[in-house]
Amino acid sequence: MPTSNKTKGGGDAVSQQCISPACGATYSVDEARVSCGRCGNLLDIQYDWDRLSVPSSLKYFEEKWTRRGEPHCFSGVWRFHELLPFVPVQQCVTVGEGQTLLHASEGVGRYVGSKSGKLFLQYEGMNPSGSFKDNGMSAAFTHARFIGAKRAACASTGNTSASLALYCSVTNLMKAVIFVGSGKIAFGKLSQALDFGALTVQIAGDFDDAMDRVREVSAELGIYLVNSVNPFRLEGQKTIMFRILEALRWEVPDWIVVPGGNLGNSSAFGKAFYELKMLGLIDRMPRLAVINAGGARTLFELYEEHGLRWNDGKPDVATVDAFNEEMDREGRRASTIASAIEINRPVNLYKCIRALEWMDGVVRHVDDQQIMDAKAQVGAGGMGCEPASAAGVAGAKMLVEEGVIGKDERVVCILTGHQLKDPKATVAYHTTDQEQFNEVLGSRGVSRAAFANRAVAVPNNLDEIIKAIQLYS
Ligand code: F0G
Repeated sequence: MPTSNKTKGGGDAVSQQCISPACGATYSVDEARVSCGRCGNLLDIQYDWDRLSVPSSLKYFEEKWTRRGEPHCFSGVWRFHELLPFVPVQQCVTVGEGQTLLHASEGVGRYVGSKSGKLFLQYEGMNPSGSFKDNGMSAAFTHARFIGAKRAACASTGNTSASLALYCSVTNLMKAVIFVGSGKIAFGKLSQALDFGALTVQIAGDFDDAMDRVREVSAELGIYLVNSVNPFRLEGQKTIMFRILEALRWEVPDWIVVPGGNLGNSSAFGKAFYELKMLGLIDRMPRLAVINAGGARTLFELYEEHGLRWNDGKPDVATVDAFNEEMDREGRRASTIASAIEINRPVNLYKCIRALEWMDGVVRHVDDQQIMDAKAQVGAGGMGCEPASAAGVAGAKMLVEEGVIGKDERVVCILTGHQLKDPKATVAYHTTDQEQFNEVLGSRGVSRAAFANRAVAVPNNLDEIIKAIQLYS
């Protein structure tokens, strides 16, 4: 049995707690749970901060850099352990996640409409498995090991599965069982899961189907579930915000812009800033913009059109139920080139609207044309990202145009996944082959590639090659 998180005064300093204030049921961190046993709502990890050692200033964390020879100081997740202390640091699993970069991008800033020096890109694609998921996986995996799990499962649009598969193969602590929608996952991600040796179950359905099934299967077989319904996952994802603050010398930006799929990130970001503010470690909250793909815009419709609000823990559940029933009746399925966020039933919906309340948030949706154009701009100006990540950038541009985001406000767009995750989408955008363009992008309503960088075809002849280079460079 794991050593429990008992502290000085007796009792648990850390627990799992139902997010519904009316319920507020608590559970020990020794349990693996993805919902409240009493009311079925999501769970938070709850800390009794008065009984834990919390630094008095965020500058405290700078000292960890001087000790980066120690794995838990090197990790971009665990060097903030004091802000997610659900198990002792010595027991935390790390594969070196979170060595990511905040980059001020002039090119993307111009595209978005921000003033010089105001637009930042947070490159989470630099994580070991190439997406932000490793932040959360190190935390969920830590908890899985803590309670003695031997198998871990997830449903995925690709990145969660790649991350889980990587943690399993690197640490050898668990066997990965992953559920993916058949044909619904980008090749880079599928190749990772296969290469890392995960048991890969391809379901004839989409992510929403896979999510339903993995919940049933993991409950039935007692397999540890690492999807973002797992509250420990989101603790790890809080650290993306800590690293942004660190890169900004602990100054709070004006906006965090993030693509929304299952809404784990947005939920985690809200909790991160809420806790920092409550602990007196920051003096104000940034605002949050969650960007859906147009073909998967449940959050947008509920929040912006139906006026769904967290409402201090009393959201209008009937509105959500009616919305879901209508989707069922119409047989509506999510559809977007940004396969990572091709999700119509986000599992963290309620936590996300809570984050939107805390961070005075807005929600927008962008179409696949806007996503692919923004993606090309990110690629041209830096290290690139996958389509879902570019939704955030396209959304930032929209919000600047609307005047919701000021041109001189400091904006951080989270680039959630690496460019190489989905080479098919990228190559199709830049191709000269109309058939390929139509098949991959035209079919999704993308009609032009305004920022394409086309390959130049030349005969295998030195003079012709030199002529082409002189002409085009
Ligand atoms: N961006 C990328 C690259 C993703 O892989 C995901 C989610 C998101 C954004 C959306 O994040 O769920 O926190 O709102 N991918 C999940 C997966 C669903 O299975 O890999 P969210």
